[in-house]
Amino acid sequence: PAPAGRYATLPKAELHLHIEGTLEPEAAFRMAARNGVRLPYADVEELRARYAFTDLVSFLDVYYECMAALRTEEDFAELCETYLRTAVGQGVRHVEMFFDPQAHTSRGVPVDTVIDGLLAGFARVAAREDLTGGLILCFLRDRPVAEAAETLESVRHRASDLIGVGLDSAEVGFPPSLFEGVFAAARALGLHVVAHAGEEGPVKYIEQALDLLHVERIDHGVRCMESPAMVARLRAERIPLTVCPLSNLRLGVVSDLADHPLPAMLGEDLLVTINSDDPAYFGGYVADNFAAVAGALGLDEEQLELVARNSINASFAPAGRKAQLL
Ligand code: ADE
Ligand code: ZN
Repeated sequence: PAPAGRYATLPKAELHLHIEGTLEPEAAFRMAARNGVRLPYADVEELRARYAFTDLVSFLDVYYECMAALRTEEDFAELCETYLRTAVGQGVRHVEMFFDPQAHTSRGVPVDTVIDGLLAGFARVAAREDLTGGLILCFLRDRPVAEAAETLESVRHRASDLIGVGLDSAEVGFPPSLFEGVFAAARALGLHVVAHAGEEGPVKYIEQALDLLHVERIDHGVRCMESPAMVARLRAERIPLTVCPLSNLRLGVVSDLADHPLPAMLGEDLLVTINSDDPAYFGGYVADNFAAVAGALGLDEEQLELVARNSINASFAPAGRKAQLL
């Protein structure tokens, strides 16, 4: 992608970022070695060669394999700290980061280890930088609903350490409707709610996320453009969409960045934000995504400033913090 350049100085919020998707190959091998874990690749080069993804699932296979390297509280703290230092350098002033507890508890890593590590890493950076934000716990939609419910129960005692819950992993065949009860329970805990919908899945999933899960933002949502009725609804209800251009390119949601629906979405007056999703895997952090779309789609300065402002408005930051950043 084009260098982050001047987009690195635009104050922005990152709202669609999987912290496990910031695990760079070098860090994965370093952590695996110190934890006595063997990754299923000979070296960094062999791992990078696996980054030729064809779709979401082909990426998720590698993403979950690499997580084997993460075992201790310090691993999660370092992962978070490293990402946040990069993000601050890219203009991020507020971040609501996703994490996937089931991908760790299923390997015997306690959920408290994950949360404690991520919060410790966050605190290290926030102590020195103008940075706010927190954690959004994502349920893996391709695992049993009962497991998601158990995961929510397991964090009930520390709901105040979370901003909200989300829904991620393989989308097609796993509709939001499955998680209606789990999301109702999360909302009853006072948590914010978001969900991935309309990345690879149909418009119907966006509709279910809104009507059944009562989400406050849609993650990705690019397939809304197939339905004028859905576009009209998202516009009228001011539902933010956390769009991830380089992710969409790498996972084949679009075959060329020049074909990305982002300009059309802005043209429809949708509340669009630009985010990095899994930057270690998709070739760019958030300002790199801004620069890539500026180059490939010819978005001008004014449009990108609007997108950056949208991210602050679409965040769950307190009103005072938003005012400070706008
Ligand atoms: N987990 C990490 N990145 C994801 C994405 N883009 N879609 C669904 N699940 C994910
Ligand atoms: Zn995502």
